This record gives sequence, structure tokens and C-alpha cells, in this order.
Amino acid sequence: MTLSQNDQKKLLAVKAASFVEYGMLLGLGTGSTVDIFISTLGEKFGSLKDLEIVPTSLDSAHKASKLGIKVLEPKMDLKPDLLIDGADEVASDLSMIKGGGGALLWEKIVAQNSKKRIYMADSTKLVRELGHFLLPIEVVLFGHEWTHNDLKKIFSFVSIRKTGAGEILKTNSGNVIYDCQITDGIEIGVLDTDLCQIPGVNNISAKTVLEKFGNMFTLMSEIRKDVQCLNGIMVESKGKTRKLAKNVIQNIVHYLGA
Ligand code: A5P
Repeated sequence: MTLSQNDQKKLLAVKAASFVEYGMLLGLGTGSTVDIFISTLGEKFGSLKDLEIVPTSLDSAHKASKLGIKVLEPKMDLKPDLLIDGADEVASDLSMIKGGGGALLWEKIVAQNSKKRIYMADSTKLVRELGHFLLPIEVVLFGHEWTHNDLKKIFSFVSIRKTGAGEILKTNSGNVIYDCQITDGIEIGVLDTDLCQIPGVNNISAKTVLEKFGNMFTLMSEIRKDVQCLNGIMVESKGKTRKLAKNVIQNIVHYLGA
């Protein structure tokens, strides 16, 4: 049985929601999978008015507050118990591209300050190597055309992101985004270091898009049992071994024939 992408997202959302307990402070990601996750939370808890989140974008903040969820600003002593987010591409070496929705910088900030993270990636997001999806890089507005020149030395294709109306898109932090084609065979760690040498590149966002899952375990096998279909949900938690995660992911990618 092959599920549609939307049905997979729904199953991922249900699975992710099973980790949410009342009273938790959630980091709320951005994107269509997260949108489904929010409705799933509604189905699970009924009323969402006692739930508190730190958003990863103004869009998520708006959607959450429309549902009565309390939206909190990041504060020194406030650490989300769990971040739930989507992904644009996850490779077999566990590197990941985020930022298709333009929220990469806030996503990274909330992710780094959350105690645990769950990324929901349906089977269309799993690849052997990153690079099918253009890599979004958040660039400081000042001098961004110079930064564009620097990016062109690294990537085979670089394009500034625009709105549907043809305007340059500004992120929630007032930066711009360049979508870049990763060259085949490039070492992700080297690319990360090169990007961090460019002053106009937001280093945090560069790391976001190239983030390696450190200590991660997956719920893949459980999901496969549930739905007889390959879906990706990844839970990162300190103290779990990376080896376990890597093996599981490799099996999954193999199973996909990616
Ligand atoms: C937002 O900037 C992104 O990182 C999203 O998390 C990612 O694009 C996944 O979005 P979908 O769930 O819509 O595929």
C-alpha cells in the first residue's frame, strides 16, 4: 500500500502528537506538515487553550494563536520541552535541509534551545545525498548582492527568493534568502565551513540548513508496523547513540530504493 504524501503527513502528525503531553512547552515548527500536526493536537486534546508554544515563524505564531494556543516569546529561562518541525530533505548521512518555507533562522534558534526535537519527514523527503532540494541560505540584507557573488563561487546555481508578486522576499528577521544548488559530491562539513566564512551569510541559518542530527533515534520501524508504509519521523534526544539512528536511516533509504 502506498500512501499519498498528505496521508503520510497525517500519520506523522498523529505519531508526533503522541509525544505531546499536557503542560508541555512546545517549539512549534513551520510548514504544511506542522499545520497538520496542529490540527492533530486539536483532535487529541480538544481545547488547545492551555497549550503554550514558542513559534519558529510569525506564520506559525498566527496559526497557533488563532486556535487559542498561548504564544510565548523566547526568554532566558524558557526552554521548550519539545520542538516539532518538518524537513525539506533528509539524507542517509543524517544531514538535513530546512528553510523551504523561509523560516530557517528562527527554526534553528528554537531547535537549539529545545530539550528534544522531532522532525517529521514523509518518504518524499528522504534522499541518499542532499541536493535535490535547493539549499536555502539566509543572508543579511545589507550588501546581499556582494554575498550573492560569494555564494556563486560555491554553488552552481544561486537564486534570490521572491514573493509571488515578484518582490524580494524578506524573512521574519528582515533578511533575504538565496536558494542554492549543492554541487554533486560536495562534503557537507566543508560546505558548512565555507559558508561561515562569508560575512553576509547568517551563520546560524547556514548551520540550520546543513544540520546533522547528532544523537538521534527514530520511530521508523514502529511507524512502518503501523501503516505498512515508509514514513519518516525522527526524534532527537541527548544520550541516544547516533550509530543507531544512522543504521535505521540507511535501512530506510535502502528500502525506498533512493
Ligand atoms: C520551513 O522553513 C521549513 O523548514 C519547513 O519545515 C519545511 O519546508 C517542511 O515543510 P512541509 O512540511 O510543508 O513540507
